[in-house]
Amino acid sequence: MGMNPARKEREKAILVGVAKNDVSLKRAKEHLAELERLAETAGARVVDRVLQRRATFDPSTLIGEGKAHEVSELVKTHKADLVIFDEDLSGSQAKNLEGVIQAKILDRSGLILDIFARHAHTSEAKIQVEVAQLQYLLPRLTRAWTHLSRQVGGIGTRGPGETQLEVDRRSIRKRVSDLRKKLKKVESIRASQRERRSGTFHVALVGYTNAGKSTLMNSLTQAGVEAVDRLFATLDPTTRKLWLGGRRQAVLSDTVGFIRKLPVGLIASFKSTLSVVSQASLILNLVDTSSDDFEEQMEITARILDELGVNEVPRLLVFNKIDLLDPERVSFLKELYPEAVFVSAENRVGLEDLREKMAAAYDEAAFERARADESAAPADAFFAG
Ligand code: GTP
Repeated sequence: MGMNPARKEREKAILVGVAKNDVSLKRAKEHLAELERLAETAGARVVDRVLQRRATFDPSTLIGEGKAHEVSELVKTHKADLVIFDEDLSGSQAKNLEGVIQAKILDRSGLILDIFARHAHTSEAKIQVEVAQLQYLLPRLTRAWTHLSRQVGGIGTRGPGETQLEVDRRSIRKRVSDLRKKLKKVESIRASQRERRSGTFHVALVGYTNAGKSTLMNSLTQAGVEAVDRLFATLDPTTRKLWLGGRRQAVLSDTVGFIRKLPVGLIASFKSTLSVVSQASLILNLVDTSSDDFEEQMEITARILDELGVNEVPRLLVFNKIDLLDPERVSFLKELYPEAVFVSAENRVGLEDLREKMAAAYDEAAFERARADESAAPADAFFAG
């Protein structure tokens, strides 16, 4: 952890991706590139990448014994500290791989958990990360990496890892249930804060990680939210006031980025972080149009929104980073997605258009609410505030 002198130097990582036959090579490379950005976000330096094609995953080593030996040789050549697999490893796969490869073995979920642990700032986020980490550790407790991680430290061993690994499963389960209780308490406090805010027009900013949510939030509200070219810079929802013209006051919340293959445990634990989305009056779905992968990213975002059950909440599709596109490409996308608003959050292009569309949604929502009020109760203080 922080005290370990080895942490001063960035850990050297080798990435291993396995593409099943139904995945195109291009897509497989993109997935590996995404893993590389994740690894860098976790502070590693990627020294080599291995991409393997297989019909099926090998049950005992994922990549097959021969390939594992090849990776082992690469580890020696590069003096690598860790090998990160793009697929989730079972406890026994990880153990078998550790038998062959002299480095820390990490999978995608473990890596994402490590990043989440780094970026959790509120008590709620910290508890959620710890719960997710402990659940991730449980099935892997038999592994021999308990002693390894204590010696080596660094990526994948942060958080509750070192001390909790020494205790047995039962006490981990106890800790998880205690944390869950604590979380319930924190959540209910947050819910009552939210209730007090209800009546305001709440805009939730969602989108795949790195879409530019923090940047847009800054451009729209001048808030000092940090924008960094790293994945998951935002883990806690940050909320700012937003003025939409006239008397329209709104509240804008940033949310954690969505990502492919987000560990299942994490989707569950971060539901409460994402619950700002279900409270929203309007969802801004931000898309990084400069990414080759943007359509897949839109699908993933749509799927997660589906899971959150927010289909009745109005949505605005916002296409960002158009400064990085050719004008022809922009026109093409405009034809393909006539409903989208095109912006460059960084260069503050298209923000007025966006503001107008949000104002229209605001008026629409006020209209809906006035109608609901009329049928529910005698017209009262709604227009007063
Ligand atoms: P997460 O916190 O990971 O979910 O990311 P985010 O969606 O909050 O993205 P963020 O605002 O941190 O932006 C990610 C990167 O994209 C940063 O390097 C930004 O400077 C860059 N970026 C954001 N908007 C634009 C844009 O309109 N044009 C260009 N060229 N870059 C942009």
